[in-house]
Amino acid sequence: MDYLEIVGKQKLSGEITISGAKNAALPVVAATILSDQEVTLTNLPDVVDIRTLIRLLGMLGGEVKHDKTVAVINNGSITSTKAIYEIVSQMRASILVLGSLLTRFGECEVSLPGGCAIGQRPIDLHLKALEAMGAAIEIKGGYVRAEAPNGLHGAKIIFDKITVGGTENIIMAAALAHGTTEIINAAREPEVVQLCEMIAQAGVSVEGIGTGTITIEGTGGKPLVFADPIEIIPDRIEAGTYLCAGAITHSEITLNKVNQEHIQASLDKLESMGCSFTIEKERITIHPAKQLKPVSIITTEYPGFPTDMQAQFMAVASIVEEGESLIEERLFENRFMHVSELNRLGTDIWLKGNTAAVRPVKELNGAVVMATDLRASSALVLAALAANGVTQVKRIYHLDRGYDNLEGKLSALGADITRKSDR
Ligand code: EPZ
Repeated sequence: MDYLEIVGKQKLSGEITISGAKNAALPVVAATILSDQEVTLTNLPDVVDIRTLIRLLGMLGGEVKHDKTVAVINNGSITSTKAIYEIVSQMRASILVLGSLLTRFGECEVSLPGGCAIGQRPIDLHLKALEAMGAAIEIKGGYVRAEAPNGLHGAKIIFDKITVGGTENIIMAAALAHGTTEIINAAREPEVVQLCEMIAQAGVSVEGIGTGTITIEGTGGKPLVFADPIEIIPDRIEAGTYLCAGAITHSEITLNKVNQEHIQASLDKLESMGCSFTIEKERITIHPAKQLKPVSIITTEYPGFPTDMQAQFMAVASIVEEGESLIEERLFENRFMHVSELNRLGTDIWLKGNTAAVRPVKELNGAVVMATDLRASSALVLAALAANGVTQVKRIYHLDRGYDNLEGKLSALGADITRKSDR
């Protein structure tokens, strides 16, 4: 099993380029099922989750030529609509094929994704919305079986909770449905915007892109022809993670290919902690704080502070000069798995319900720690960069799901980090 070995306290410098966003690429790959023509996707992140979803398309009968950051996909040849457990259990976002398979083929069987370390991750809102569009849904043997033999029809969908995946599944379902679908309380994340734009550029009428109310006129079952190539937007969470690397090591580093608007919440919080920035179009340079200050964070849906940056900021908050930081996690019920591992590096973090109190410590010390989920892994790496001595971060298969060449990028910035293997 691979692990990362990090010798801390190195100053970072220089610049790196941010990869395409995993959470934008996944719905875009799923949406290619809405077409029976070839489409080219570029700027894909070279991460396990994308490889997994593309492998699923192949298993369904799609033709895919995938080389790291470019994929040429033709789903005209799909013969199966069963997304099996073996794939979906590896990557819960495979549930994103539900809406596109159902609306294109009138039936599909998708394994229930199962939970993950950060929470139960139900899909009840996805299923309720598809039923409102005319789907017959049955859950049996761990699979969602969905049928709509005459296709889906438009409906007014009110999500009583904002769900990124739920919004994306319904956008894809609505694209080929008969009539108009209105999604109220829709997610507004940049990845949802990219999906809407991809479908709109294929000639589907989509109103309210980027707002909480999206209205889609379906094609009535006619597959889409996408305007390609479709270039995946930069990864706002990867960019935020590297800005935190600059902050926690008191280093000045530059990121290329960043969309400032997408990371504004993280920039604001780092500024409140004493950092400053030079921003020129898609390039951002972080100037470290002379003295890092504590921070108060509540995670919420976009454009609020992203839950996917919560663990990384907890690492930075652990080494401020003085003052307690408070971090409240409002989206997931169990997204503090990184706390006990960070405390093994010497942080002083206390949990009370869904709030973490981060008390400052003078120093962190290297240790063997274990990653538990994707963003927790990156928080452990950040803390290791600031710790005395050697840290080994185990179970980094979590990291490989969503960070493209993290150790290569950190090494390019001057970190002492190497990938080793237990075997
Ligand atoms: C997406 O997950 C992201 N994943 C997550 O990123 C991110 O943390 C999350 O959105 C929130 O921003 C991808 O985009 C692939 P949700 P998703 O549906 O769509 C509850 C990462 O690190 N809910 O917006 O699964 C749910 O339990 C990952 O890259 C229901 O109750 O998140 C959660 O509490 C981790 N019923 C809240 O809503 C449902 O039917 C938000 O979930 C659906 C969701």
